[in-house]
Amino acid sequence: MLEAREIRWKQDNKVILQDINFHLSPGECVGLIGPNGSGKSSLLKILAFLETPTSGQLYFQGQLIPKSIPLSIRRKIAIVFQESLLLNTRVFDNVAMGLKIRGLSKGEIRQKVDYWLEQFGVIHLSKQASRSLSGGEAQRVSLARAFAIEPDVLFLDEPFSALDAPTKEGLRIDLAKVFKSTQTTTVLVSHDFKDIAHLTNRALILLNGQVVAEGSPAELLRNPHKEEVNRFLGYFTT
Ligand SMILES: Nc1ncnc2c1ncn2[C@@H]1O[C@H](COP(=O)(O)OP(=O)(O)O)[C@@H](O)[C@H]1O
Ligand SMILES: [Mg+2]
Repeated sequence: MLEAREIRWKQDNKVILQDINFHLSPGECVGLIGPNGSGKSSLLKILAFLETPTSGQLYFQGQLIPKSIPLSIRRKIAIVFQESLLLNTRVFDNVAMGLKIRGLSKGEIRQKVDYWLEQFGVIHLSKQASRSLSGGEAQRVSLARAFAIEPDVLFLDEPFSALDAPTKEGLRIDLAKVFKSTQTTTVLVSHDFKDIAHLTNRALILLNGQVVAEGSPAELLRNPHKEEVNRFLGYFTT
């Protein structure tokens, strides 16, 4: 579905990512985990075609991606960030937006928006102004908006990080259910191993802009690593 080969990304003479090889198969949810500043968001932006790597190749559905991304490819992906970027309109319109752009009929839009608001437990907020939502509600609406377009690849960058623990826990459970029913191909960034353990089949650990380990969440905890990787993982096992 998505593949990155030998990605390197430099900004202001600083190497932010190097030697990155990544692949994502249909139906997989792959995690990117690492401490703050390790390059997770940078890699996500490159994989989601929001930044252009300094060198290396990206393949999407078997096609080499050119420097300027065709709109047809852009429309096949959806991204959710830590801070929900909702427009200052009603909840319904936020979720409907991507469907309108794609030319769906009014009836189809209503059916899909209602379905996804329901899946994320926020259908009762449909007519509410988006700016009046709590952090947890806003993030649920952002996820509904992303799933509504039925993306070929979904990118989630720390979608729960701004939420308090109980809110985060509830959303993680609901998202796991949606993943199970939709099998949406996803890249999930988190600095919290709990998210990775609950939601992904496989994860890559990033440190200083490089992939230092890869495996299922259980393998990552079980296998021996370099000292610095163990130190990072140690926070989640003690
Ligand atoms: N556009 C940019 N220009 C310069 N430096 C950047 C840019 N984006 C990220 N960085 C730097 O790259 C490193 C990795 O950042 P980031 O990918 O945001 O890490 P993470 O998401 O793991 O916390 C940081 O040192 C950050 O300051
Ligand atoms: Mg980040």
